[in-house]
Amino acid sequence: MDAQPTAPVPPPGCPAHHTGGRVPLYGPEFAADPQAYYSYLRHYGPTAPVELSPGVEATLVTDYATALQLLQDSGSFRKDARRWRDLNEGKIPHDSPVAPVLAYRPNAMFSDGAEHLRLRQAITDSMARVDSRRLSQSTEQVSNFLISQFGSRGSADLLSDYAKQLPLFVFNELFGVPADIGDRIVFGITGMFDGINAEKAMEVLFGAIAELVGLKRARPGDDVTTWLMQHQAKLTDEEMVHQLALLMVAGNEPLRNLIGNTLHRLLTHDAYAYQGGLIDEAIDDTLWENPPMQNLGAHYPASDMEFAGQKLQAGDLLLVSYAAANTGPALMAARQAGSNRAHLSWGAGPHACPSKDPGRQITVTAIENLFNRLPDVELAVPSESLTWRPGPFNRGLAALPAKFTPVKPARKPAPQPEANAAERAAKSGKAERGGVWSQFLNWITR
Ligand code: HEM
Repeated sequence: MDAQPTAPVPPPGCPAHHTGGRVPLYGPEFAADPQAYYSYLRHYGPTAPVELSPGVEATLVTDYATALQLLQDSGSFRKDARRWRDLNEGKIPHDSPVAPVLAYRPNAMFSDGAEHLRLRQAITDSMARVDSRRLSQSTEQVSNFLISQFGSRGSADLLSDYAKQLPLFVFNELFGVPADIGDRIVFGITGMFDGINAEKAMEVLFGAIAELVGLKRARPGDDVTTWLMQHQAKLTDEEMVHQLALLMVAGNEPLRNLIGNTLHRLLTHDAYAYQGGLIDEAIDDTLWENPPMQNLGAHYPASDMEFAGQKLQAGDLLLVSYAAANTGPALMAARQAGSNRAHLSWGAGPHACPSKDPGRQITVTAIENLFNRLPDVELAVPSESLTWRPGPFNRGLAALPAKFTPVKPARKPAPQPEANAAERAAKSGKAERGGVWSQFLNWITR
């Protein structure tokens, strides 16, 4: 165990010097080296005082055993964000970028007890019906489409041209989404995460999903949307919209980053000099050391209590640092002893990720197919010049420029949308017509 000085001193340059001792989990310094922050935070003990964005305070659990205790004790710690005291007392700035992620929505992630069980069962049962062969085939098809768009150039940004788009397309396929609705879903999710007119993007996303629900009620298909709808939980239209939005939003960003962070590892660590079997290993190492969701698992104490030596009040915001727990001394020992999947990167307890298997399968197929099609792909810039997106929750690169020997597309690339069309559409709040999902659907039927 680390020695615990009574008054930990922030590392030189750490803005904790200026935030009343709370350590900020945002800004370029944190994005550049979050693990340095986690080592420092461990000096506080199993939990530490952090700030998620200016004015948003939380207690971060950094210790593995303490994190498990929290995640598994749904009697003492609740997910329903309507308990969030600081929000209820008006202390959260209106423009806080983290509030939309943490604020309550009527979905499984923010539910407790019997209501959570009911919503979660509908999700797990529907996701369990996804045929793994079909999932691999559609991932490969999407991967081929994306590669056909940039393969002849001999260079690409593997983040924005590949890892960011692939999950969106695979999800549209899984959920049985037709062209025009799919374009709006892609627009909505991309806009939400890119923060360009996020409010409008959210409105477009929810509108498109509501339309999808109406469509599938009238014309059921062989897809996750229909299976969710037909589940014995008998979800109402409103519940359907919220669970579908949860699946799409909770799935897309971490999946983009699991693909991106694993590609980054494969392209920057010589130890993985590409051979088929090493993709699985690189995914595991990424999950241990650079997980896509670094801090989340928001919980609120049901009553005033003492936890891990700290006095907590009902409604205090607690977050779990999956990334810190994975790399702490206790778990490093378990990893060395060969317990390769003991990390917390998929969460744990009743709210652990219900889509671990399809998430991993999409990642493996996406990376395998990319290396099969572009066998000499390599980084196009020095690895030290790569930058990571800021923010406390997700861990993902801003860009991953790569080069390779140009390849001829098996099929003609789809016509490119006008440059900057998506960004312009986001700013104006109008979804693109004939957007990327429509192009994909046209491409596969050519
Ligand atoms: C197919 C892709 C994915 C889908 C559809 C998906 C869906 C979900 C859903 C619905 C939840 C909430 C479950 C509940 O509250 O009962 C969840 C939680 C979670 N997921 Fe995933 N997920 C996907 C991929 C990933 C990936 C790639 C990661 C990272 C490796 C990840 C990490 C997590 C974690 C840590 C939680 C717990 C979050 C919390 O408690 O706040 N997920 N996921």
